[in-house]
Amino acid sequence: MSGFGTNRKAGICKLKLTNFRCYSSLALEVDTETPVILTGNNGAGKTNMLEAISFLVPGRGLRHARFADVARHNSELLTANENNIAHLPVRWAVAATISSPLGEFEVGTGCEGVKEGVERRQVRINGQPAKSQSDLGELMSAVWLTPAMDRLFCGEVSQRRRFLDRLVQAFDSGHAGRTTAYANAYKQWGRLLREGCTDSGWLKALENTMAEYGVAVAAARRELILRLQPFLAEGDGVFPRAEISLDGELENLLASEPALKIEDGFREKLERSRGIFADGGFVSGPHQTDLLVRHEKGMEAALCSTGEQKALLVSIIIAQSRAQIQQSGHAPVMLLDEVAAHLDKKRRDALFAILLGLNAQVWLTGTEPSPFESLYGKAQFFDVENAVVSAAVA
Ligand SMILES: Nc1ncnc2c1ncn2[C@@H]1O[C@H](COP(=O)(O)OP(=O)(O)OP(=O)(O)O)[C@@H](O)[C@H]1O
Ligand SMILES: [Mg+2]
Repeated sequence: MSGFGTNRKAGICKLKLTNFRCYSSLALEVDTETPVILTGNNGAGKTNMLEAISFLVPGRGLRHARFADVARHNSELLTANENNIAHLPVRWAVAATISSPLGEFEVGTGCEGVKEGVERRQVRINGQPAKSQSDLGELMSAVWLTPAMDRLFCGEVSQRRRFLDRLVQAFDSGHAGRTTAYANAYKQWGRLLREGCTDSGWLKALENTMAEYGVAVAAARRELILRLQPFLAEGDGVFPRAEISLDGELENLLASEPALKIEDGFREKLERSRGIFADGGFVSGPHQTDLLVRHEKGMEAALCSTGEQKALLVSIIIAQSRAQIQQSGHAPVMLLDEVAAHLDKKRRDALFAILLGLNAQVWLTGTEPSPFESLYGKAQFFDVENAVVSAAVA
């Protein structure tokens, strides 16, 4: 571990990919201090590089991919597994040197393949196996915007909920675990009821778990909204102020009632709903919560133009970074894939100026260098071509 100047940005200094998507082997060194800009043709490997970085924080990366899917197809490492299913991916890895406020760390993550239908992912920190992926979250956090998120406000509630929970996770490293514990209990409870289970003790234990974790998850989400609101309200004159709130039964109740009372109420409601659920009905709860976003002009995000929706997402991501800086002194690594698309020149240049002013390592991609001209001389430019990355002059 080496010393870390307080004004240095947290981020990646060295990145090594092995059999990750289109990359058979890649080693890249960057500086954490200025934005990293990757440009290249469609299919060159830009998003794959950002996705690799997104695996250095807990979760399934910016495409929410199955670990088995990111292994490089046609790699010489692809072999038959024990069950003789040919071409199952065997191994991929992403390794990096991370500069963090705690010092410099060597981290690595990868998948050994699929064994008995389970994808196994390993994490190593300074050469030692980590207890779980969540240890990565202690060293680095990341936020991202991808073209797939352009439909976030018009698409499925579950996508917005995942986006919300990822933002919460950056402040509360136990949030993902509690969300999973709630979801698993809900799934098991539902299955038992639909199979006709009448074991009240078993059902009650699951209802207790759901009530306890459900209220904790809802409270953490509310906390996030309260954290972001002052940064969103500040605005910067170019990006719209995003007004954010939650639509969720427990989240709404938390505005006026103590958590313990809500927990008891939810537990009783679950018990009362057993029959309805067993007959194919539904029960509302934190598994249905939605993130509501409005443009400052009073329009809900889904009714805003494509560029306005992108600008709202940018506002939220920037507020998140500022809130994280306020809390921990360092911003998350920002992975902005094709972020210039849909933004006019004024907003693009305003965004780059904001990014330069944030104490964050930023990775940007685009098909051409020209939209980034206001960053010439202030950023590190790389050409990406057929999964080969080389430094470019700009
Ligand atoms: N598991 C995999 N193994 C090998 N190649 C893959 C795998 N998954 C994706 N690819 C390929 O990697 C290539 C690069 O994809 P990537 O999304 O990084 O492109 P990109 O540079 O972001 O392009 P665009 O500008 O179109 O967004 C694509 O041709 C894709 O088909
Ligand atoms: Mg791409």
